[in-house]
Amino acid sequence: MTLLKGARERQVHTGGVELCVAELGDAARPTLVLVHGYPDSKEVWSEVAARLADRFHVVLYDVRGHGRSTAPKPLRGGFTLEKLTDDFLAVIDAVSPGRPVHVVGHDWGSVQSWEFATVKRTEGRIASFTSMSGPSLDHFGHWIDRRLKRPTPRRVGQLLGQGAKSWYVYLLHTPVLPELAWRGPLGKLWPGILRRAEKLPADGYPTPSLPTDAARGAWLYRDNVRARLRRPRTDAHAHAPVQLITPLGDAFLSEKLYDDLEQWVPQLTRRTLPAKHWIPRSRPDQLASWITDFVTSVEDGRSQAVQPTGKYTDRFGGQLVLVTGAGSGIGRATACAFAGAGARVVAVDRDAEAAARTAELSRRLGAPEAWAETADVSDEQAMEKLADKVAAEYGVVDVLVNNAGIGLGGSFFDTTPEDWKKVLDVNLWGVIHGCRLFGKQMAERGQGGHIVNTASAAAYQPSRALPAYSTSKAAVLMLSECLRAELAGRGIGVSAICPGFVNTNITSTARFAGVDADEEKRRQKRAARLYGLRNYPPEKVADAILRAVVRNEAVVPVTAEARGTRLLSRFAPRALRAIARLEPPL
Ligand SMILES: NC(=O)c1ccc[n+]([C@@H]2O[C@H](COP(=O)([O-])OP(=O)(O)OC[C@H]3O[C@@H](n4cnc5c(N)ncnc54)[C@H](O)[C@@H]3O)[C@@H](O)[C@H]2O)c1
Repeated sequence: MTLLKGARERQVHTGGVELCVAELGDAARPTLVLVHGYPDSKEVWSEVAARLADRFHVVLYDVRGHGRSTAPKPLRGGFTLEKLTDDFLAVIDAVSPGRPVHVVGHDWGSVQSWEFATVKRTEGRIASFTSMSGPSLDHFGHWIDRRLKRPTPRRVGQLLGQGAKSWYVYLLHTPVLPELAWRGPLGKLWPGILRRAEKLPADGYPTPSLPTDAARGAWLYRDNVRARLRRPRTDAHAHAPVQLITPLGDAFLSEKLYDDLEQWVPQLTRRTLPAKHWIPRSRPDQLASWITDFVTSVEDGRSQAVQPTGKYTDRFGGQLVLVTGAGSGIGRATACAFAGAGARVVAVDRDAEAAARTAELSRRLGAPEAWAETADVSDEQAMEKLADKVAAEYGVVDVLVNNAGIGLGGSFFDTTPEDWKKVLDVNLWGVIHGCRLFGKQMAERGQGGHIVNTASAAAYQPSRALPAYSTSKAAVLMLSECLRAELAGRGIGVSAICPGFVNTNITSTARFAGVDADEEKRRQKRAARLYGLRNYPPEKVADAILRAVVRNEAVVPVTAEARGTRLLSRFAPRALRAIARLEPPL
């Protein structure tokens, strides 16, 4: 059985075993070799391989003793890293004899690929290495050594943390027990356990030959782990650029393991993502996109130094981020901050010129691609058209920032039904349309994502001066909380951002109900002056937005006054009510 549609298969003989090798895509293109982990077979890569086969020559093989490759006899001593390196060389001799290959490894596939990328005999045969969830045993050995020799409380904590995550490694070193467990109940239960833990669909984890693979594969651990950790190589430096992809929710590996990696890898690109261990199954789009970018940059000879240098490049590099109200203020600053982190940006605004300017700025700041789109967020049909276009032309959005909003001041009785409608249409319905349309695409893709809604401190701070605006923002805050609960099970985070007074154009465009045009102008000017005196820059709100996504924060008050009133609203609401009665300063 193969889950690799359209794959060409062949057998490669090496060191007494026959390896089952599958190839996809045009062999004249750059070759990618995907190496699977434990207890998987090459089929674990099926989703990623399908996404890469249009652009690359994709090669997968069952590691010896796994899938449809034969096992060494005897098993003991048949799985050493030296023998696994022989296998790798035999595979690349067969599939790409004259040209170095790009290696991609997951779990034990990554552990062994670290060996390939750091031993002398493969020098010149590897163009790049993408590593996920599998450290070099040599680097790991030195990591432990350093912490044992110079133990600080932090280092001891790191050792204990990783020690606790490695429980299964100790079990796999016991004789017979793992074999009995895998051939018995564990073999049957494993696919279900993994699907539930990783939130995969019913057919999300292909295991064509599971119990046998898992039982034999225990020798990967027994043949290598103790020996290497005891005597790690000192010359384990990578001879090719490395891209390290670290899922932050990995139950088996601590991200701290990679703290010292720069010393071993001269050209290192770091990527992180909020996911668990089996990312080839749970995040194939993101992996395919990062692998494509990395391999293409190495093939083109593009230096890693020209990559964007903003904050959080490891997390947002190459991701698709859509920001509404991106033509000014907080929206523009947010689009630019994501651009600085290497994201692809869609800047949406009802003001076409302003959106175009933000897209232009984003490109200059490091966005590999940036587009301007004109849409009024309160217009359902326009938003539907936008969502269709974005999905068809740019892809499913990874981060959505529903930020567009308008200001409206004036007492409740001065606020007309038209005024109410306008402010609710933009501030609330704009957010609803964004969440419904783009959030649905995210949920249907099933590979996580994040939604940020710009509410305001006015969401929890009552005021006689801003009844309609505050109501719209309180609704956005509650909508965000409800949606966060609904989407939590799908790996999609939702954050509500609540800024206080931020120095943007909102003061000069805000409407004031119940006054004539001259008085409105006067109030706008006065508000602009006050906000100017406070002088809180929108860039700081943008920074808080990126941090909120990285940390998956629920409600984020930004500015001291927003944090202060948030505390009062929870612990001294009567004080806040008293403040709400005060005459407005405008
Ligand atoms: N500035 C503040 O003090 C402050 C405080 C709390 C919350 N906020 C909120 O932050 C968000 C951004 O505000 P800002 O201060 O950057 O304002 P801004 O006026 O500088 O920018 C708002 C942008 O949104 C666009 N926009 C307005 N209505 C739109 C619509 N219907 N469709 C598409 N685009 C539209 C505008 O063209 C503008 O480019 C708003 O939701 C606002 O309510 C601002």
